[in-house]
Order: sequence, then C-alpha cells, then structure tokens
Amino acid sequence: MADKPKVTATRVIPDAGLDLLRDAAELRLWEEELPPDPDQLDVLLDGADGALTLLTDRIDGAVLDRHPGLKVVSNFAVGFDNVDVDAATERGVAVCNTPNVLNDATAEMAFTLMTAAARRVVEAADYVRDDRWKTWGPTLLLGQDLTNATLGIVGFGRIGRKLARMVSGFDMEVLVHDVYQDPSAEAEFGVKYVSLDELLVRSDYVSLHVLLNEDTRHMISTDQFARMKSTAVLINAARGPVVDTDALVHALETGEIFAAGLDVTDPEPLPADHPLVSLPNCTVVPHIASATVTSRDNMASLAARNLLSVLNGQEPEAIVNPQVLRGSR
Ligand code: GLV
Repeated sequence: MADKPKVTATRVIPDAGLDLLRDAAELRLWEEELPPDPDQLDVLLDGADGALTLLTDRIDGAVLDRHPGLKVVSNFAVGFDNVDVDAATERGVAVCNTPNVLNDATAEMAFTLMTAAARRVVEAADYVRDDRWKTWGPTLLLGQDLTNATLGIVGFGRIGRKLARMVSGFDMEVLVHDVYQDPSAEAEFGVKYVSLDELLVRSDYVSLHVLLNEDTRHMISTDQFARMKSTAVLINAARGPVVDTDALVHALETGEIFAAGLDVTDPEPLPADHPLVSLPNCTVVPHIASATVTSRDNMASLAARNLLSVLNGQEPEAIVNPQVLRGSR
C-alpha cells in the first residue's frame, strides 16, 4: 500500500474536517489557540504534501519556496487574501477555499450587525447594565428604521445576494455595486446596479461583501464617508482593510455617518483600547460571521475534501487557481 500523504493543519478545526484528514493522510496538527509564528509554520510545513491553512497564516512565495513538496494550500475560509495566489500558481501549487457553505451565516451576521447598529442594541444593553435606565423616554436611544430604507450592497457575489434575499421582507430598495455585472441579477434579486458613488450617496445602509485585493483595499475612505448620509450605517463583514480605519474613526466621531457594525477590522485582532471599541456608535464582533456550528463543520469538511482531492489527482470542489490543475502556468 502506498504511503499516506503528509498533511499539515495549522489549527484545530471541527472534526468533520480533521477526521477526513486523519483517515486519508498522515496529519501534523498545530493544537495551540494562537496561530503558529512564521518559524513554527516552517517546522509544521516541513515535508508536507498539503496544508490546510487559516486566514491568519501568511502563505507567500518565500514560504512556498521553502516547502517545494507542497501541492495544495487549502484555506479554511472563503477569502484567500492571506495566500499569494500568483506565487502559488507560478509554482504549480493549488489554492482552495470554502465558498458557499458560509453564505447563510455570513449574510445573517451582516444583517444582525445592521439591525444592532441601527437600533443601538449594544449601547442600549450597556445602558441597562450601567444602571442608567430610570424611566421610559420619548427620545431615549433613537435609532434608524430598516423598513423602506435603501440598502447598498458593495460586492454582489454569493453573500451579497444572500443578504439581498434576506431583506426582501423589509420593503427595502436594494442598490448594488460590483465590478462584474450579471445582467439577469437585477430582475432575479430585485436590485439595481449603480456606481459606488451613487450607492454611497443614496444608501441608508452600506454593507461590504468584496474580496480584499489591491483594488478593494481602502475602498471606503475619507472621500467615500463624505458622500454618505449622516444617518447611514456601514457594515463590514468582508475584510478589515477594505475600510480605512482612521477615516472610519473620524466619520463615527464627527457624526459623518450614524453608526458602524464590524465583523472584521484593521488591525485584527482589534486591541480593547482602540477608539473603535469605545465609540458608542460602533459595534465590533471578533470576525465570527461564519461561526455557526453548521457553517464551520461544512467549511472544515470542504477544506479537507479540497485538499485530499488535489493530492489524489482529482478536481477539488473549490479551487481559486484552476489553471494549476491543467498544468498551464
Ligand atoms: C472568513 O472571513 C472567510 O473568509 O471565510
């Protein structure tokens, strides 16, 4: 019987994925709570045929050069900005991700943050906790309506589309912006494609669902906040650096926008003494949009299946650089 392939997983993921790897491969597992540092990562990847990585692992050309046996980097995430995909492609290394299985959970978190920020839920709970609740107040903790408001979705891919469907019961007008326009999507999802400028000017809620790359880094910065309504709510469940953090702090402090709900931040993790944490109109959760039991189980098994498929010479269910499989570099 042929030797089992050598596989590294850089963190403990749900058993739904680990069990598949344990059965089919010789598994080296990083069991600490915090990610391996670059030196520890090198030790873990030594001699590995495949790596199951997290968004906290930086995999660039230098890492791949030090581990020439790697055939696949299978990311336990839909986003893959932690991997230098061009460098992997040049070296014939497959890069896989976990799309679709987290669409529901991520869109639900965007929606949760939208309502929490609009209705000041965290601030209101703190108000009670701090024993400041003395009476019912006609103007106490006034927020913004969702019903009949305009939602702007930036990045109209799988998660953005899920969010558009989700708000259909709120009689919202939904504007979308994407570099790729799908002609059938407007009718199918009841949305309208507009420029980013128009979306920012007209939206009461702006929810970000783009990948992080050089085109989307700081896509929302000083000029964009200046275009937004003073009653607008910004939601980021994409990647922290899509928003310019300093510009966001300024926009929240000066009332340029009403509130923000952030699943992701820049930097990440966000230290507790960061201004975004203490601003009452900013709700921050620690990058947990896909953190439901079902979603994480499905991500784990998909990431494991992707990895094993590549090692078995089969087409994985989700691959970012399929040209690698066809050997055209
Ligand atoms: C999480 O942020 C992911 O990209 O899956």
